[in-house]
Amino acid sequence: MPSLSLNGKSILLVISGGIAAYKSLELIRLIKKSGGSVRCVLTKGGEQFTTPLSVATLSEEQVYTDIWSLKDETEIGHIRLSREADLVVIAPASANMIAKLAHGIADDLASTALLASDKPLLIAPAMNHVMWENPATQDNIKTLQNRGILQIDPGTGDMACGEFGMGRMAEPEEIFGAILGFFNEEKPLSGLTALVTSGPTYEPLDPVRFIGNRSSGKQGHAIAEALATQGADVTLVTGPVALPDPAGVKTIHVETAVEMLETCHKALPADIAVCAAAVSDWSATTIMSRKIKKRGDRIPPDLKLKENPDILAMLARPAPKRPALVIGFAAETENLIEAAQEKRQNKGCDWIIANNVGSTEKIFGADENHVYLITENGAEEWKRTSKKVVAKKLADQIADHFLTQKTQIAAE
Ligand code: C5P
Repeated sequence: MPSLSLNGKSILLVISGGIAAYKSLELIRLIKKSGGSVRCVLTKGGEQFTTPLSVATLSEEQVYTDIWSLKDETEIGHIRLSREADLVVIAPASANMIAKLAHGIADDLASTALLASDKPLLIAPAMNHVMWENPATQDNIKTLQNRGILQIDPGTGDMACGEFGMGRMAEPEEIFGAILGFFNEEKPLSGLTALVTSGPTYEPLDPVRFIGNRSSGKQGHAIAEALATQGADVTLVTGPVALPDPAGVKTIHVETAVEMLETCHKALPADIAVCAAAVSDWSATTIMSRKIKKRGDRIPPDLKLKENPDILAMLARPAPKRPALVIGFAAETENLIEAAQEKRQNKGCDWIIANNVGSTEKIFGADENHVYLITENGAEEWKRTSKKVVAKKLADQIADHFLTQKTQIAAE
């Protein structure tokens, strides 16, 4: 078996303040030895514990420390710095760095590059055990976990401050192992392609107005990201949303239902299709080329609408390019499970994620969801949790489904 390597992989290593920064020098050495390249950003605190010269010497790269450095910004800039890596690692991740990350504070080069990053993130926390256990730090860690970051737990032992407890940064070999695992791990959905729709559609009436809806795209985007994290090659077709494109996903932006359908067809074949978009059911029969004006006779314009194509039903139709697993959503206000079962059959899809939008729970635009997974075998409740966790559970369920199929084929 070939030994694992980081050949061709590039890592952005952020070294924040903490005595554990000295261990990051060994981490740089391990990354370089296994064929990876590593660019380092030192925070002001990081510079107190390790020198830019030692970091530059080991990484064989320029070291970045200052957001106001004209030379660095003109040569590479914080945006490129954050985009040119395959993986961003923060080691050590101080309590302050974790808090800034959780709250989107960008007040130095490291935190600004992290906020601008669209790459997977691995953190190795390091701090005094009371700081680690402080509810503020634990809340921040939970926030980051809900966003799907990877974390190497700190260890327990004697601390540099003379106290004993949990908070020591993991050893460089362990962090290096996690980096190797990230790049080389055989992921459950490796080799499979997925198509995900997300967000609302906007159906124009005239150059100014449109028919739209309140979908935020949070659930669909989280699903696209979760499938990519599990190794699938994901294409996300999204309507207008105020969200960044998810990391590691090919994202295509569309406006109308017809554009969404055409883009989905072009993205086929795919093994998995998840239709999470809130597609407008209707569009205007005629889009006015000029803004529709009040005429002074107090009679409102006579808008004529036509029905939009049902993308989910089209993708689920028996056809040579039908994805092996087609999943839809059902937002219902009453008889949730029966209505969703009926929708599953009418649309011809395999699974439905159903949620009750008529209940007192806020779903549209919220960060949490309370759903039922409806399959031919019945309904399974997933209690209210973050949309990221719902996405991860769905990705796990999809992975299980393909694994079972593979095992059955192998047994035949
Ligand atoms: O019929 P209804 O809008 O309740 O169905 C919801 C499901 O169908 C969702 O998965 C949604 O993405 C999908 N859908 C679609 N195209 C439409 C309408 C709904 O793909 N025109």
